[in-house]
Amino acid sequence: MASPMRSLLTNHAKYYESFHCFLANSTEHQCMEEFMERQLPAIIDSIGNGKSTINILSVGSGAGEMDLLILSKVQATYPGVTINNDVVEPSAHQILKYKERVAETSNLKNIKFTWHEETAYEYESRMNAEKKSKKWAFIHTIQMLYYVKDIPATIRYLHSLLEAGGKLLIIVLSGTSSWEVLWKKYASSVPLQNFSTFITSADITRILDSAGLKYQLHELQSYMDITSCFVKGNKEGELLLDFLTQTYDFCNTAPPELKRQFIEELRKPECSEIRDGKVLFNNNLSAIVVES
Ligand SMILES: C[S@@+](CC[C@H](N)C(=O)[O-])C[C@H]1O[C@@H](n2cnc3c(N)ncnc32)[C@H](O)[C@@H]1O
Repeated sequence: MASPMRSLLTNHAKYYESFHCFLANSTEHQCMEEFMERQLPAIIDSIGNGKSTINILSVGSGAGEMDLLILSKVQATYPGVTINNDVVEPSAHQILKYKERVAETSNLKNIKFTWHEETAYEYESRMNAEKKSKKWAFIHTIQMLYYVKDIPATIRYLHSLLEAGGKLLIIVLSGTSSWEVLWKKYASSVPLQNFSTFITSADITRILDSAGLKYQLHELQSYMDITSCFVKGNKEGELLLDFLTQTYDFCNTAPPELKRQFIEELRKPECSEIRDGKVLFNNNLSAIVVES
């Protein structure tokens, strides 16, 4: 008998394997890089005015690829200023990769890194227990909010940590992406088991509106090449299907009818377009910049 379906997050090694397969087959990081190059400088141009030290908090940083890009833009905007960059990341493995990346990167001498191996909630609880209320000029949380238990409370907490004039950058999947289409149909068929919530920018802006917070929204165009998902037994395709469903070993544990319907759905024009013989899934993201 096939094993029961379970959340991808029940196996961390498999989660990161499929996340890296997703990164390798999508323009996820490229569209963020474009955003950091073109839009970020204007966003951060007032966070450090007159300060000798700029405090930055990164929540759910993974291996730090985007963090280092953000830091390079802050350095370029405020040459010579000291930067305290604190990282909240629960995965020891990702922190190790982050540290390796820092060790291999030049031009980081004005930056002091502090890594906290904990979740956003553990960080909040520890800060409260230690009665610490450090404030930050810039806080970012990129593709992470799916994994917290109480998204509105986490956003409210992070926002409360901003210095006057500070900014909170949230990057999540866009409400116009095909993830929205998939999740509307299939969220109840896959085993999230309280590990993650299928949300998009449409949900985040509703939360921000009801909290009365001011923000700007930037849309980032992105796609994922899912051609290999249609090749039976293809290892890469199976990892992408795990990531798309956030399910561990989806191909071997999902009921055959669910698997058939899901794969069929991926090909539909609401989800993907065919270009040069490739099936490209709409992976658009939103970058939301919240004011202090
Ligand atoms: C999809 S990855 C994004 C990594 C990185 N920000 C990027 O965009 O490349 C999500 C990250 O959030 C981390 N994470 C998961 N649950 C978290 C939580 N409750 N609090 C903080 N980080 C969390 C994971 O370990 C992982 O590194």
